[in-house]
Amino acid sequence: MTTRTARAKRTAPRRVGPPLTGPFLKWAGGKGSLLQQFRELMPESLEGRGYVEPFMGSGAVFFDVIQTRKPARCTLLDANADLVNLFVQVRDHLDALLPLLTQHQEAHNAPDLPPEARKAYYYAVRAARPPAGSLEAAARFLYLNKTCFNGLHRLNSKGGFNVPMGSYRRPTVFREPALRAASALLQGVTIEVCSFRDCERYIADGDFVYLDPPYEPLSSTSSFTAYAKDGFTRDDQTALRDLLERNAHRCTWMMSNSATEFIEALYQRPGMNLEKVLAARSINSAGAGRGRIPELVVRNYGGDAATP
Ligand SMILES: C[S@@+](CC[C@H](N)C(=O)[O-])C[C@H]1O[C@@H](n2cnc3c(N)ncnc32)[C@H](O)[C@@H]1O
Repeated sequence: MTTRTARAKRTAPRRVGPPLTGPFLKWAGGKGSLLQQFRELMPESLEGRGYVEPFMGSGAVFFDVIQTRKPARCTLLDANADLVNLFVQVRDHLDALLPLLTQHQEAHNAPDLPPEARKAYYYAVRAARPPAGSLEAAARFLYLNKTCFNGLHRLNSKGGFNVPMGSYRRPTVFREPALRAASALLQGVTIEVCSFRDCERYIADGDFVYLDPPYEPLSSTSSFTAYAKDGFTRDDQTALRDLLERNAHRCTWMMSNSATEFIEALYQRPGMNLEKVLAARSINSAGAGRGRIPELVVRNYGGDAATP
């Protein structure tokens, strides 16, 4: 197995032209710091082919792929219905969403607002339950994401968001140009709530599929799997491997995960190509342990694996 390091970044040609549009929310396990390395591992072009991302999160990889690989069509899936609703509203109703976001941003950052009042506003929004799938729910989701502790997404046993307020001085909830650019890129993109177990129906023959499931925890105290109410178990990791094995003959796929013994052993299979890349992780339970951590990338092409 080879390990790719940050050297790729230093030797990459200087980018010309405007910077690419990226994600508009913070997401645990977001792949922003790995995009340069991922570009070297992905097909050079996706023209004429579909792109499917069954664990879209903040869409960091999608935004890079759509601008650099030009897929013919894109499908973004995630089990988090509130996250999916935000993406759908940004795609379809941005003009109606912006005033709600402005309201949150101005209320949170009002000059001379006593800290207690700011806190009261945050916890009132956190306690509110706007109808699922509404514009209000989308605005609340982005507001909480940008003002809560470390951009974490954690739910209690009743499905309520329970992350405390972060200690940012004047957090930016949104930037209109960035949201408009994201909305433009999302036009025509299929965005659905979907468990990965049901994602096969979205994959057409010849598509390129990138999968970034919740990490297998590096240690028993790591909280990296706390994305969904039910967590992501070893059974889920195994079911995902089985799904990828089942579909290896009809699509090209790339999966990233933590480089634990369990995950490495799971993917030691014929036709699967394992590599390590060094990831900068910035969100974890203790706030400690930041730095570069090897992450596993498995593909059914490249290396010794034949390209389907
Ligand atoms: C590591 S994050 C993806 C991060 C993304 N690549 C990014 O750059 O932001 C994993 C995602 O899987 C989603 N997820 C968790 N369990 C899932 C399931 N059973 N089916 C589909 N998605 C799931 C979570 O909501 C989360 O957004």
